[in-house]
Amino acid sequence: FDKSPLSSIPGLTKPAPSSSPQSNLPIRQIPGDYGLPGVGPIQDRLDYFYNQGRNEFFKSRMQKYQSTVYRVNMPPGPFISTNPRVIVLLDGKSFPILFDLSKVEKKDLFTGTYMPSTDLTGGYRILSYLDPSESNHAKLKQLLFNLIKSRREFVIPEFNSAFTELFEVLEYDIATKGKAEFADPNEQAAFNFLSRAFFGVRPIDTALGKDAPTLISKWVLFNLAPILSVGLPKEVEEATLHSVRLPPTLVQKDYTRLYEFFSSAAGTFLDEAEKSGISREEACHNILFAICFNSWGGFKILFPSLMKWIGRAGMEVHTRLAREIRTATAAGGGGITMAAMEKMPLMKSVVYETLRIDPPVSLQYGKAKKDFVLESHDAAYEVKEGEMLFGYQPFATKDPKIFDRPEEFVPDRFVGEGEELLSHVMWSNGPETERASVANKQCAGKDFVVMVARLFVVELFSRYDSFDIEVGTSPLGAKITLTSLKKATF
Ligand code: HEM
Repeated sequence: FDKSPLSSIPGLTKPAPSSSPQSNLPIRQIPGDYGLPGVGPIQDRLDYFYNQGRNEFFKSRMQKYQSTVYRVNMPPGPFISTNPRVIVLLDGKSFPILFDLSKVEKKDLFTGTYMPSTDLTGGYRILSYLDPSESNHAKLKQLLFNLIKSRREFVIPEFNSAFTELFEVLEYDIATKGKAEFADPNEQAAFNFLSRAFFGVRPIDTALGKDAPTLISKWVLFNLAPILSVGLPKEVEEATLHSVRLPPTLVQKDYTRLYEFFSSAAGTFLDEAEKSGISREEACHNILFAICFNSWGGFKILFPSLMKWIGRAGMEVHTRLAREIRTATAAGGGGITMAAMEKMPLMKSVVYETLRIDPPVSLQYGKAKKDFVLESHDAAYEVKEGEMLFGYQPFATKDPKIFDRPEEFVPDRFVGEGEELLSHVMWSNGPETERASVANKQCAGKDFVVMVARLFVVELFSRYDSFDIEVGTSPLGAKITLTSLKKATF
């Protein structure tokens, strides 16, 4: 039984009235429409957030049009985005067009069909919003690569120390209350880890104290409110978050506290930026964004996701992971090393499988630079210059034409020959088999993220034989409550 949302699409579409010189597949007109101006976008937005929810929103239209490529409006629409019209990509073949920078432009579309005010980022357009054709893109991305490389040796020890604190809090809460909420201690640990690993600074020793997660969450909300549902009544969210921009001044004070922290903690990074021709100020807003939005925001979603999928995989998988991780660590002399982690194929596979089944950043955009023909598995579509392409990644990485049992968490999926499928894992805005560079838009933290996700699993199963969880939902990612942590017995 295959309940993949894509499995109901038949292998072939209607015979083509014409064929393209650029494709052997039948040319099909892109189905779907945008409805009446002003009305269509709001109808689609209500369906997306409330009437259907995100997965059903995409799935129901895919079934209606019998196509993994179609037209629809994406939130927010009126009155925030001037043009909410997109062409949706839902299969693993059409999705990678978003990485082809000869065909798509990636300017100002990091958050989709609207761009948050630059007043939220010190007046600057931050790296994530720059197209590689813009000169600052390469400079800023190279600075981040240099930072990650220069701090390599701190990652493992600082992860261990920050996440030891997390596990101690969780154990204490379970012992005293019978259960432990994962979110808060995870968010503290993630920020502490990033600050110590990249800058050698303990936030608690600065004016920031323990406030970073609260300050960042509020600021992120001001950036993403138009595309989030935060659980308020529909009428309230529609009248506020989805229709008007929250005034950046309301978050200015919080942002300034974060800015001051980075201005002092990230001195070396700012010195280097100046040498490459970027002002200290622009560099500081960028490092704040990279650490708080890209990194911390990513880990806030990824670690609960690892807990969810590995937690649900059950005792037998936990035992295999614990055995594999402890054996490889012991053989390497007892400490956690990069070399030891390479000898943990099941651990590596569960990390990739989590990133496949639940890509933490699930919406990606790209604007057609010219007319071209786009291919899905079974048809070709003519795209016109200026049209917005939008990929919903959780469907693309659960494409039944690429992955067996796509909806299932298969722990061993990427072990041995399974590694060949890594080219279809695209959480980093590019195939897992390719490298982030200054010339592409692949996540600057790609290798760092994979390494840190591995460390998380290794730390978990070095300490515990197994654990139990309850899973709920939150505006960004899964809400995890731990009900048990079973200490290592072997
Ligand atoms: C870009 C995901 C962590 C820095 C991206 C993009 C995705 C992504 C999907 C592309 C967005 C787009 O253009 O549509 C993630 C996830 C993370 C994570 C899921 C963690 C779980 C990090 C970390 C860093 C980082 C740790 C930095 C140390 C960046 C930067 C870009 C980016 C700078 C823009 C790249 C460019 O302009 O070429 N990330 N990221 N990310 N990410 Fe990450």
